[in-house]
Amino acid sequence: MSSQLREVFKYVLRNRKLFTLGVATRFLSILLGMFIPMLIKNAIQSIMLLESSKLTETALWIVLLMFAEGFLFFVSRYIFEMVSQRSVYHMRLDLYRHLHDLSYSFYDRVDTGEILVRVTSDMDTINRFIRFFFMSLSTASFSIGIALYFLLSIDVQLTLITLIILPLIFITVVIYTRLTDPILRRRWETLSGLNTSIEEYISGIKVLKAMGIEDYVAGFVKNSIYRLFSLNIKFAKRSSIMRPTLGLYTQMSQLIVLFLGGLLAINGVRNVGDIVAFLLYFGRLTWPMVMLGFFLSMYQRAKISSTKVFEVMYLEPEIKESKDAMPLKTVRGEIEFRNVTFGYEKGKPIVKSLSFKIAPGEKVAIVGGIASGKSTILKLIPRFYDPWEGEILLDGIDIRRVRLNDLRSKIGIVHQDVILFSGSIRDNISYGKPSAKLPEIRRASEVAGIREFIESLPKKYNTIIGERGITLSAGQRQRISIARTILTDPKILILDDPTSNLDSETEERILKALKKLMENRTVIIVSQRPSMIRMADRILVLKNGRIVEEGTHEELLSKRGEYFRLFQSWRES
Ligand SMILES: Nc1ncnc2c1ncn2[C@@H]1O[C@H](COP(=O)(O)OP(=O)(O)OP(=O)(O)O)[C@@H](O)[C@H]1O
Ligand SMILES: [Mg+2]
Repeated sequence: MSSQLREVFKYVLRNRKLFTLGVATRFLSILLGMFIPMLIKNAIQSIMLLESSKLTETALWIVLLMFAEGFLFFVSRYIFEMVSQRSVYHMRLDLYRHLHDLSYSFYDRVDTGEILVRVTSDMDTINRFIRFFFMSLSTASFSIGIALYFLLSIDVQLTLITLIILPLIFITVVIYTRLTDPILRRRWETLSGLNTSIEEYISGIKVLKAMGIEDYVAGFVKNSIYRLFSLNIKFAKRSSIMRPTLGLYTQMSQLIVLFLGGLLAINGVRNVGDIVAFLLYFGRLTWPMVMLGFFLSMYQRAKISSTKVFEVMYLEPEIKESKDAMPLKTVRGEIEFRNVTFGYEKGKPIVKSLSFKIAPGEKVAIVGGIASGKSTILKLIPRFYDPWEGEILLDGIDIRRVRLNDLRSKIGIVHQDVILFSGSIRDNISYGKPSAKLPEIRRASEVAGIREFIESLPKKYNTIIGERGITLSAGQRQRISIARTILTDPKILILDDPTSNLDSETEERILKALKKLMENRTVIIVSQRPSMIRMADRILVLKNGRIVEEGTHEELLSKRGEYFRLFQSWRES
């Protein structure tokens, strides 16, 4: 068994008691059912001996047993379902927690669609496997065991002859799954590809329409739909062979049993009741055989899915809290970079031996050309990535020595692209501080300059934004994100080009809100807008991963160096 499936079983074994109960009830159900052919044999004997009262009694027993068998079967199925659902529930929680812990660098590498598949459909496959595994394995082994016992007790020779047929059923199912599994897999791949393209198509449809190339793109989608169609037809063709083939085997085998058993009855070796019971027991063997055949393919699929899930679960987060991490209560807000070197790819550092110090409450701007590494520097402060070399200190303490959550809670970030979640305005403002009460949210909105707008809406703070709600302008979105940051009251504020998506009139108003937000905090500003940069006490100029100039706006302009050139280029654009 693969090590990943062993991990799956660890989750199943957490429900040991329930699981044992499931196996026990399944056993009892099958055992009770196995007495029915015996009773039918008795009934036939009663008919032949014309004993009507005995026949009635037997019939009642049969009905009783049938109900008991069915009921216990239901109970065991329910229990197996519970076991698999519970196991997958815990597995999903663990996977989700783990995904949360994984670092930025993990998400740089994988695409979100693939992670989604792991959380949803791979987990579903595992779920089905757990249930099916225990049900089919217990059902098959119990049924085969008990039925064989009864068959042998009726006639050893007849049993041995007819048992040759059973493996044929098993082999048919195995061949069938070998033929259909690749189609199913390709169908599944096509389907998830189709989902992705349709999603992209719909979310980009406005742009596509504007460019007049919607037909061209729709062609891709049409191709996928056609592929899906032909795969479905192919699958239908192959799967429709299966049932008749299996039906043929079972009926043929029953005929053989009837014929051979009939000869025994005619020769007086066995009576008719025995032969009927034999036929019925034989019939109880066919399903378990089919199940065992399907089981193999299920096993293969579960192996693939669990490998995918546990591959992620085994990944160690690159950013980890050290075991003796210190709690961080209050901070003054002094930040220091000491010889920091960092890049995303080996051998390609983005920042090189970077050193600078920002005093508590100081406002510093970092400027530089496009893709010069400004955002990268900002991402190092909350430890989204760790430097290759050098260290970053907060109040003189290496940030790798403090608790991650404490560190991050002291830092507020306002991005260029605001991410809002579907939900109410209130939720979107308060998700960094879910305990915030309405007056507090109002005050934050006031400072962010968005209160008036929100309160003019009919549902005010409960207005839903996102796909099923109102659409906000870029400036409104940015002000909501500012309100959000105000509410978390961070000691250190990071502004990563928060006005670059806004027109100059909107920028004016955002600047006012930002100015209030900046009070009493250490602030690092990255921007291309002179109006933003001028809010800083000091400017660091970045070029080729190093700081090449430093000073106030006026000082740097009069130098007529790198900053002067940058300033010219901003003015032109
Ligand atoms: N997650 C990542 N994985 C790999 N490379 C990255 C990643 N993020 C950024 N880079 C690369 O690092 C370099 C610096 O990017 P960064 O975003 O820090 O620049 P920037 O100065 O903020 O640029 P801009 O002015 O466009 O915002 C770029 O060449 C970019 O392609
Ligand atoms: Mg950037």
